[in-house]
Amino acid sequence: MTRPEIICHMITSLDGRLLADRWPCSEDTLLQIYDDAAERLGAGGWIVGRRTMEHYLASGSPAPGPARPSRPDHIAPHDGASIGICFDRHGSLQPESGEIDGEHLVLVLSETVSDAHVEMLIARGVSVIFAGPEGDRLDEALDRIGAAFGVTRLLLEGGGRMNGVFLAADLIDETSTLIYPVVDGQSGVAAIYDNDSTTEARRLELISSETLDSGAVWLRHRVLPRADATRAQAAE
Ligand SMILES: NC(=O)c1ccc[n+]([C@@H]2O[C@H](COP(=O)([O-])OP(=O)(O)OC[C@H]3O[C@@H](n4cnc5c(N)ncnc54)[C@H](OP(=O)(O)O)[C@@H]3O)[C@@H](O)[C@H]2O)c1
Repeated sequence: MTRPEIICHMITSLDGRLLADRWPCSEDTLLQIYDDAAERLGAGGWIVGRRTMEHYLASGSPAPGPARPSRPDHIAPHDGASIGICFDRHGSLQPESGEIDGEHLVLVLSETVSDAHVEMLIARGVSVIFAGPEGDRLDEALDRIGAAFGVTRLLLEGGGRMNGVFLAADLIDETSTLIYPVVDGQSGVAAIYDNDSTTEARRLELISSETLDSGAVWLRHRVLPRADATRAQAAE
C-alpha cells in the first residue's frame, strides 16, 4: 500500500508566521489567493490539525468511557466527494454531520477514544480512521485513507504543529508556500512549521516560483529525502 502524496500548502508572512488574522489585509483576499493556488495543486482532499478544525467545528472535553480494542475503521457513504481530514486523537471535535464545506469529513482518532463518541460520529455520517493506541500512527492511517477513498494527493493545510509533526515523520513530499507581502515581527507568534519535539532541519529543492498579481510570491519545493540531502551537502 502507498500513502497519498502530501503537499503542505500554507500562506505566511515574510517571517514565516502563521496567524493571518494579525495581518493588515482582508481575510477574503487571503482566502482567494490561498484557494486559487490550492485549486491548481489538484488534490483529492485536505488535512488539518485539531486546533485549526476548531475554527469550523464545535469541540469539547472528550467524555471518558469504555473503548473496545482493535475497532475497524468506518468509511461512511461519501458520493465520491473530496475529503477533509482532521487528526483529532482525543476525540474532542463534535461535528453535526459528515459534511464540511461540501466535502466529506474524515476524523482520525486514537484507539482510546470511547465507543460512545465513535458511535456518535458514525451516526452523524462521519468516516472514522484509527491511528493506533496514541493516535500517532499517521503513516498507517494515511495508507488506509488512500486505499479507502482512492485519493493519491492530499494538501496538508496546517496549523504549524500538525505540519511540524508531519515534517518530522517524513510525511511531506512537497511544500507549497505563499509568502504574502506582510511582516509580522512579533516574537512568539507561531510559525508554519512548529514541532514541539526535537526536529532536524530539512533540505528543500526548488520546483517553481511565481509572483502573483496580489504581490504574493508562491514557492513550491520538494522535500529532499535525508540521504539525498547529505549527498547534496557533500557536493557543495
Ligand atoms: N497561515 C495559514 O495558512 C494557516 C493554516 C492553518 C491554520 N492556521 C492557523 O493556525 C492556528 C492553529 O495552529 P496550531 O499549530 O496551534 O494547531 P494545529 O496544528 O491545527 O493543531 C494542533 C493539534 O493537533 C493535535 N494532534 C493530533 N495528532 C497529533 C500528533 N500526532 N502529534 C501532535 N499533535 C497532534 C493536537 O491536539 P490534541 O492534543 O487534542 O491531540 C495538537 O494540539 C490557528 O489559529 C489557525 O488559524 C494558519
